[in-house]
Amino acid sequence: MNKKILIVTGSDYTPQVYQAFYDVKALGHTLYLLSDGSFEPKKGVFEKHFTHDLRKTKEALEYMKKQPVYFDAVAIKTSEWLTPLTAFLAKEYDCIGNDPIVAFNCRSKYHMRQQLQQNGIPIPQFTLARDEKEIIQAVGRIGLPCILKPVGGNASYGTFILRDETDLKNLREKYSFAIDFLKKKAVSEDVFTFTNEEMNLMGVEEPVNMVTDYLVEELMTGNEISVDALVQNDCVTLMGIEDQIRMAPPYVLETAARLPYVCSEKEMAEIQNLIERTVRAMGIHNSATHTEIMFTPEGAKIVEIGCRIGGDDLHDTIFEVTGYNLMYESIMIALGMERKYNVPIQCHTFMEFIFPKKEGKINKITVPENLKKDFDLFEITLMAKEGDEVALPPKSFDYIGYVAAKGKTPEEAENKAKQALKKIIVNIQ
Ligand SMILES: Nc1ncnc2c1ncn2[C@@H]1O[C@H](COP(=O)(O)OP(=O)(O)OP(=O)(O)O)[C@@H](O)[C@H]1O
Ligand SMILES: [Mg+2]
Repeated sequence: MNKKILIVTGSDYTPQVYQAFYDVKALGHTLYLLSDGSFEPKKGVFEKHFTHDLRKTKEALEYMKKQPVYFDAVAIKTSEWLTPLTAFLAKEYDCIGNDPIVAFNCRSKYHMRQQLQQNGIPIPQFTLARDEKEIIQAVGRIGLPCILKPVGGNASYGTFILRDETDLKNLREKYSFAIDFLKKKAVSEDVFTFTNEEMNLMGVEEPVNMVTDYLVEELMTGNEISVDALVQNDCVTLMGIEDQIRMAPPYVLETAARLPYVCSEKEMAEIQNLIERTVRAMGIHNSATHTEIMFTPEGAKIVEIGCRIGGDDLHDTIFEVTGYNLMYESIMIALGMERKYNVPIQCHTFMEFIFPKKEGKINKITVPENLKKDFDLFEITLMAKEGDEVALPPKSFDYIGYVAAKGKTPEEAENKAKQALKKIIVNIQ
């Protein structure tokens, strides 16, 4: 039963994700990788590593079509921006996966909102705005306070709240800082837009610019969670719910999170129901999903949904808590192998991001060796490197890294992470 599986990615993986690949290979399958060539994958895992500029969706697709190999499955872990390409590839090889328009609707926050609204899913009011003038008009329509976010954003890049008239007066500065930041990312990294031709291929009726078009939304208030769920033949299984902690307004970057989310059975049933309805509304049938929910005074509402596994620590954290490897499960779903889940809770975890304390160039980052060997500190990841210029919003939206720890109780996990964070020194010039 040797199947050829194509993995699409924008970055390298943790050992836990590689473990999924080893396990899949042990079943007799062959793995291939498609990336932008920005890293060297571990030796001996992939039969072939295809590289292309993956920001160019149509070109990347044409490049793969020319390769003398046909795949039985296409899978992705987290690279949000590559979900439409992954969907195109799955369609090309007649594999199980999301339809390109479904992936696009998850990518474009505007189209996502339309899809959810048409299907009666609880969401905030929203308006599309294509420039500063339209933003001001949209703010007039939505009212203050409201939130502004780029249509194709991720990691809360370029997202900010307008609390009152004073914030509205500073709109121009914040918007131009955000756009400059996003444009830089669009060249160097993982924010990019689609051409009209590409959107046409996906069946998009109202094209958007993923970098400069903004969504102005009614500001929801309340606790926020993220839910990683697997969908197989329309059956939804919740694999991990994360209780999120975010920056104080006017910015919303996630600063820390606890997993699992501790709640009553009733609340859990409500979450399950909302995720099922959201997944159905988006037209997702076989895929990993990552959804954010806010518990507002009017009830639970959807912040957003992605047709992929959650980012940052989530893959490894969910493995620590449940024993399930979501990369492995995603490949099994892509292969059409029927899965049955019984999701246990084996520990509690706490993850906290490291942010720059001031604007400047990172001189040195010191992570003591004993931290790296600590079994309970299961992930210490650096997202910035020495020499990088970093700043906090509104100037920039830079993360330095994060630490994830586990314990028998949420408190034990949090203490462990906090102690470790004190020992990681980031020197900024
Ligand atoms: N309408 C809203 N009301 C209140 N807060 C919101 C609203 N929309 C977004 N947010 C906040 O902004 C964050 C980022 O928005 P969103 O999830 O849509 O974008 P993102 O860039 O994909 O974010 P991330 O990758 O950080 O999850 C949300 O997690 C939430 O905290
Ligand atoms: Mg989000």
